[in-house]
Amino acid sequence: MISLGIEGTAEKTGVGIVDSDGNILAMAGKQLYPEKGGIHPREAAEHHAKWIPQLISQAMEEAGLNYKDIGFISFSQGPGLGPALRTVATSARTLALSLNIPIVGVNHCIAHVEIGKLDTAAKNPVTLYVSGGNSQVIAYESGRYRIFGETLDIAIGNCLDHFGRETGLGHPGGPVVEKLAKKGSYIDLPYVVKGMDFSFSGLLSAALRAYKNGEKIEDISYSLQETAFAMLVEVTERALAHTEKDEVLLCGGVSANNRLREMMQVMAEEHYAKFYMPDMKYSGDNGAMIAWLGQLMYKAYGPLAIENTEIIQRFRTDEVDAPWVYNRKD
Ligand code: ATP
Ligand code: FE2
Repeated sequence: MISLGIEGTAEKTGVGIVDSDGNILAMAGKQLYPEKGGIHPREAAEHHAKWIPQLISQAMEEAGLNYKDIGFISFSQGPGLGPALRTVATSARTLALSLNIPIVGVNHCIAHVEIGKLDTAAKNPVTLYVSGGNSQVIAYESGRYRIFGETLDIAIGNCLDHFGRETGLGHPGGPVVEKLAKKGSYIDLPYVVKGMDFSFSGLLSAALRAYKNGEKIEDISYSLQETAFAMLVEVTERALAHTEKDEVLLCGGVSANNRLREMMQVMAEEHYAKFYMPDMKYSGDNGAMIAWLGQLMYKAYGPLAIENTEIIQRFRTDEVDAPWVYNRKD
């Protein structure tokens, strides 16, 4: 059966079409670039409402399919921005009801991990998922994907973007900070790991204070990256040692960063673990990851009753029983 997946938890929306063997038949997406400030949940919802119909047609055309070929609809049920999620859920319900086919709601964070496994040789990794809205260290244990560490406040991508906006570097800040960091040297910034969790808001404030105090933007960028990434790598490393797994997966939009990749790779090698990263087009938010997790969930649970398709804004990774993890053919 073919799954058509709809994503749109934050500033990007996307449609993907995936068959039951994990062949990605089509992918179409559109990103909102806010004129100023961060993303406004209502603007994201309006953006998604405008683009989803076109993205569906585009993906169908790319896959060369008719609507009667679609077996069921998958959609990201959470976590994410409420209005954006509601737009996605409404589109998914409308499509499922009008085509008279089943619907499956999936967890966005688990979808990142599963597409990462699909696109690489990773089977049972410790995953660092880092994006504008999420920062989590995830690994499968005792039937579920467990969160071994996560941010106590803002996500790393949000931290870099906020820094970029406040210092006039523009949005998104991540790529600009990466470029500037290449010419910087180290200044002291707060390193905050509490237990297995990390925090970026104090680091952001300190970086902005350093900027107001006239420190060089290159030095702050370098130090912001080194400090934040070392925090993420430390927690991933501890999760790897604890779980005794031998694979590390890096995904999410921030994984575009070469310095973070390098630090993760070195850490993995020190533990004799293999380091994996999906192709960047599957690493950021996309519809294919939703369609694929929909396949895994549909096989495990069958369809979701329409009355259970309400959004779950704070949907946690460890709320979902994941029996499919060891039911895969490989
Ligand atoms: P999610 O819904 O999963 O939170 P998102 O809407 O934030 O996703 P992504 O494409 O996964 O979308 O991630 C975007 C983030 O990635 C932004 O915060 C951006 O600054 C960051 N980013 C992109 N390129 C780089 C880079 N080279 N270095 C650091 N961060 C980067
Ligand atoms: Fe995401």
